[in-house]
Amino acid sequence: MADEEKRVKKYEWARGALAAVVVLLMAAFLLVLSSTFYPVGLGPRQPIPFSHRVHVHVKQLSCLMCHTTVTEQRRAGIPPLQTCLLCHQRIIRTYPYIEKLRQAFAQGKPIIWQRVNWVPEFVYFDHSLHLNKGIDCGHCHGNVAMMDRVVAARKFEMGFCIQCHREKNATHDCFTCHR
Ligand code: HEC
Ligand code: HEC
Ligand code: HEC
Ligand code: HEC
Ligand code: HEC
Repeated sequence: MADEEKRVKKYEWARGALAAVVVLLMAAFLLVLSSTFYPVGLGPRQPIPFSHRVHVHVKQLSCLMCHTTVTEQRRAGIPPLQTCLLCHQRIIRTYPYIEKLRQAFAQGKPIIWQRVNWVPEFVYFDHSLHLNKGIDCGHCHGNVAMMDRVVAARKFEMGFCIQCHREKNATHDCFTCHR
């Protein structure tokens, strides 16, 4: 009798463990699935909580006002603090983060923004070439205008780049991107 009970207990324990493993696996699977197809959400926390939604969607600023080199150079560029101060010398100047910004500027200290998007070093990418072909920022970066913290909207895998190069008859010679 005692033996029988022990066996039943063992069985129940094993069943419980199995169920837990299945649930964990399903959760992991869903997490991978959702992060592959819906990479929305919040990007990394920044030293100053700059919001694209507030500046682009609400205040209607152009991307080019801050990412000034995007149509001429490889890099889009991150604006210097002077650009922020064009407005924030006056606008909400006593808000703590804006005070931090003004202080950093006065002391000549840069703000170190966390990087969000990148390709590996062995990949050559150039913004200006793409923008001059009329490709929208959103194709590669998603709807930045609605982001409070920029998140990497696309994975810059080789297939992502090559698929559009095929569609647009751009070169897909290996040495174009790996030089
Ligand atoms: C008022 C200035 C300003 C405007 C306007 C602006 N940005 Fe930005 N952008 C920044 C700053 C500052 C950062 C760095 C901090 C951050 O990531 O939020 C940044 C970061 C980014 C990044 C992430 C860079 C990385 O590390 O990978 C992308 C992508 C981007 N901006 C795209 C856009 C697009 C697209 C628009 C227009 C729809 C736009 N930005 C308009 C100031 C601006
Ligand atoms: C063209 C003017 C302009 C520029 C340039 C500008 N801002 Fe702003 N910013 C505003 C306005 C307007 C608000 C909204 C103020 C309010 O809510 O009363 C704002 C709000 C903010 C806030 C408050 C929090 C929030 O998101 O509501 C922060 C932080 C901020 N800006 C940071 C920055 C930084 C960092 C830069 C430079 C990369 C920058 N701003 C460039 C106009 C500007
Ligand atoms: C064809 C795809 C594509 C388009 C279109 C595009 N970007 Fe990018 N962007 C990238 C890639 C790829 C990176 C990472 C580059 C790297 O690591 O060198 C990047 C990086 C950035 C960065 C980080 C800083 C930098 O310069 O590397 C900013 C800011 C940015 N993009 C803004 C923009 C803005 C603003 C637009 C539209 C005016 C835009 N991008 C259009 C693919 C694109
Ligand atoms: C939405 C479409 C699109 C995407 C996505 C795209 N490209 Fe392009 N790319 C183009 C087009 C169109 C051209 C041709 C530009 C020209 O002929 O001047 C081009 C040109 C280039 C060139 C220059 C080719 C030359 O002739 O020198 C490089 C390098 C490049 N792309 C790299 C990349 C990389 C790396 C990625 C992915 C991170 C990428 N591209 C994603 C459309 C795209
Ligand atoms: C339009 C741009 C583009 C072209 C053309 C291209 N690649 Fe790539 N390649 C990339 C990008 C972007 C990555 C980085 C992928 C990542 O980080 O996941 C990459 C990564 C790689 C890697 C590293 C392994 C990997 O998959 O991460 C190898 C190897 C490679 N490419 C070989 C080639 C060869 C061979 C060709 C020619 C048949 C080629 N590539 C053409 C953009 C390109």
